[in-house]
Amino acid sequence: MGARLLCLFLASALVAYYIYTPIPEDMGEPWKVMFISASFRAIGHLAGAAEQLGLVHYMEALMLITAAEYVAPTSDENVTVTDTEFSNVAVRLYLPRRAADGLRRAVLYFHGGGWCLGQAGMRSYDHLARWTSNSLNAVVVSANYRLAPKYHFPVQFEDVYSVTKFFLQSSVLSQYGVDPDRVCVAGDSAGGNLAAAVAQQLLEDSEVKTKLKAQALIYPALQALDLNLPSYQANENKPLLSKLLMARFWSEYFASDPSLWEAIASNRHVPAEASHLFQFVNWSNLLPEELKKDHVYAGPSYGSSELVQKYPGLLDVRAAPLLASDARLRGLPLSYILTCEHDVLRDDGAMYAERLRAAGVPVTHDHAQDAFHGAMTFVLSPVNLAVGHRLLNRYVEWLNENL
Ligand SMILES: *[C@@H]1O[C@H](CO)[C@@H](O)[C@H](O)[C@H]1NC(C)=O
Ligand SMILES: *[C@@H]1O[C@H](CO)[C@@H](O)[C@H](O)[C@H]1NC(C)=O
Repeated sequence: MGARLLCLFLASALVAYYIYTPIPEDMGEPWKVMFISASFRAIGHLAGAAEQLGLVHYMEALMLITAAEYVAPTSDENVTVTDTEFSNVAVRLYLPRRAADGLRRAVLYFHGGGWCLGQAGMRSYDHLARWTSNSLNAVVVSANYRLAPKYHFPVQFEDVYSVTKFFLQSSVLSQYGVDPDRVCVAGDSAGGNLAAAVAQQLLEDSEVKTKLKAQALIYPALQALDLNLPSYQANENKPLLSKLLMARFWSEYFASDPSLWEAIASNRHVPAEASHLFQFVNWSNLLPEELKKDHVYAGPSYGSSELVQKYPGLLDVRAAPLLASDARLRGLPLSYILTCEHDVLRDDGAMYAERLRAAGVPVTHDHAQDAFHGAMTFVLSPVNLAVGHRLLNRYVEWLNENL
């Protein structure tokens, strides 16, 4: 069933997108990238058409990709894989079989998909978790938090927070042979958003005694205040994540309300009363010259206050970790941030790296000049990208050296 659906989608992708779509010159393997991009766009268009016809919510149609990519929990010679629950939230657990010298390291992983899509059991995420577990001889907990449009903020955040809190109990850490001084949170895209939010929230939680060693944020989404950053302008229609889709993901995180999507997409969703928050996303201060290029900072554009009154999550630091004060950032652990040049979210990650550094947090910021949003998930045939392998190896290497 899954394979047939995938074939159907890929065939429609080819038919719909025989027309050439330009790929940035510095991207390797342009034909493969074009194929991936065309497939995703075709699926997006089909989902859009299905929604227009009133058949299904856009995100539920896109969820078919997640379903087609699902693999059951399967142990191999290196890692024991099981689906279980932590604090009533579904997780996929990866326990290494290799003997350990002492206690093991652990990674709490939150998958991407715009708070609407994805799951730990997707082939690419299953591979990533298994690879991490085997490479680091570490316990990996991959959370299946609940998704929009059925659930909205703060459910996604609260689910991953519950999983983290549950795991950090000393009785649970010792049950899995985990060293309490070597636990990190990690995630990509919306999962990077959740990981950053969890790391911040833990600082204020007196019930949690174990501190995180690190956070690893892979092309994270960190703010919905300004969707007109240079990276949004320059990469509006680059592979996998268009500006319009990101605006939709943000709006679905808070509500399935077309007027919210429209306001976010046109960057008129924040009222002047929230002007004090713009200092935290002021790219004129926070971006290095090579990312600003010739963009000119025009200051915030404001809308009416109706939407933030209705959806206060928009300005909530648990949804937008970049809006945290410097004081809140100061306590954060060692951080790894990966950004991709051809990604609307590039400047979210770059500005967070700058703010963390300014707050005295040790940060490794890797910027991939030739990569697009989601590149790290393409490491399995038939869509195997050299850049995907490079990013994955770099991330695992950083964890190996720092966790
Ligand atoms: C198990 O680990 C070894 C050593 O890292 C590796 O060569 C092998 O491919 C792994 N097996 C699986 C099924 O991943
Ligand atoms: C952003 O930074 C620039 C340059 O430092 C400054 O002139 C401007 O007032 C700032 N704007 C906001 C909204 O913080």
